[in-house]
Amino acid sequence: MVKEIKNGRLYFDGCDTVELAKNYGTPVYVMSQTDIEDKMNAVHKDFLDKYPNTHAAFASKAFCTTAMLKICEKNGFSIDVVSGGELFTAIKAGFPGEKIEFNGNNKQLSEIEMAVDYGVGTFIIDGLQEIPLIEKVCKEKGKKVNAIIRITPGVAASTHDYIVTGKKDSKFGVPLDDDVFFPLVKQAIDSEYINFRGLHMHIGSQLFENDAFVKATNVLVDNVAEIKKRFGADTYELNVGGGFGAIYINEERKPYSFFLDPIMETIYKRFDEMGMARPEVGIEPGRSIVAEAGITLYTVGQIKDVKGIRKYVAIDGGMYENIRPALYQAEYTGVVANKADAVHDQTVTLCGKCCESGDIIIQNAKVPGDIEAGDIFATYSTGAYGFSMASNYNSNPTPGVVLVHNGKSAWAVKPQTYEQLMQNQEIPADIM
Ligand code: LLP
Repeated sequence: MVKEIKNGRLYFDGCDTVELAKNYGTPVYVMSQTDIEDKMNAVHKDFLDKYPNTHAAFASKAFCTTAMLKICEKNGFSIDVVSGGELFTAIKAGFPGEKIEFNGNNKQLSEIEMAVDYGVGTFIIDGLQEIPLIEKVCKEKGKKVNAIIRITPGVAASTHDYIVTGKKDSKFGVPLDDDVFFPLVKQAIDSEYINFRGLHMHIGSQLFENDAFVKATNVLVDNVAEIKKRFGADTYELNVGGGFGAIYINEERKPYSFFLDPIMETIYKRFDEMGMARPEVGIEPGRSIVAEAGITLYTVGQIKDVKGIRKYVAIDGGMYENIRPALYQAEYTGVVANKADAVHDQTVTLCGKCCESGDIIIQNAKVPGDIEAGDIFATYSTGAYGFSMASNYNSNPTPGVVLVHNGKSAWAVKPQTYEQLMQNQEIPADIM
């Protein structure tokens, strides 16, 4: 376990978090390299080593920094990017182009140009008008790209509505209507600039059940068969996306094999029955790799007891560095890091410093009765979609990220400065 309580303090990957708060300041995101690599090792054991001809791409949207992408490369992971900015981070990290998958439902021409120039390994076509854009760029540059097509499998996974992506009414993926899907596949197969390799799906995020994955996998394979029948084209790659659940409160984490064994069983069985060679299978986990590897450290400030109603404990961060509670009613727990072995039996509302009533990080946080200004609060499981969804609301600079590893610590991302916040601002002459 990377979280330990020693001498009344919370330690994270061997580092005293109270010392981290002192040395790096708060609020600050702290990421454990040990925990990230443990999760990556689990992917190797449960999937990559178990099934030949497979690959895993970290969904960089969950936590996109150059240091993280280096960890991916070191641990034999590919990455998935969905924007010019994520791709630029990969380029800055020197991440190998052939191990990058480019997702996204509205890729811009400039992003496609950047991806083609860098030699991105696979385009995941996720839009009806994307092929002509890819062709235009490839024609100009004399290149040809590998591509798979993201389908909307029409399967509803059970999770928060905002993070369901596989049902038919979705902005993602190509709908499977006969007169929409097959002409698009034909266009990809016939294109002199595209090497059509297969199909992709991603059905949702924070999932704990495997039946929707199996249903959607069957839909993928049905379409492989249909593509072979209609166009004689083989499929070399299937990507089943990410979405594997992580622990925030008291969820029971399922091993990767819980999801991937039934998926692989379905793929083996169906391809055997069809007498076709099994294609390469890819996955795109994001949250399950990094969520539990992150904590956020805060300093407690104002405490307000609304008699008979609730006690607000304000910390020096808020919705600008963790939007998930406000956006998805996401729940977190944590500990007072400098009083970690005190009984946490008082219920308070941990709020941020933004001008917004919904700026609550934990609605019912358990803290010791003597919580006071200057205490360090650590929120657990903030490694996914925290830093990557941060904003500058109320002109708050984005906190930095400290990477910890076996008792050592270093900045992975320095905190934004006020000067950096201002660097693109201009006062147009007319106003004067
Ligand atoms: N692949 C694709 C195509 C995706 O759209 C996503 C996530 C993933 C992989 C990774 O899914 P994961 O393993 O992380 O569940 N901001 C939301 C989550 C949005 C997920 C978007 N797509 C949150 O904070 O809960």
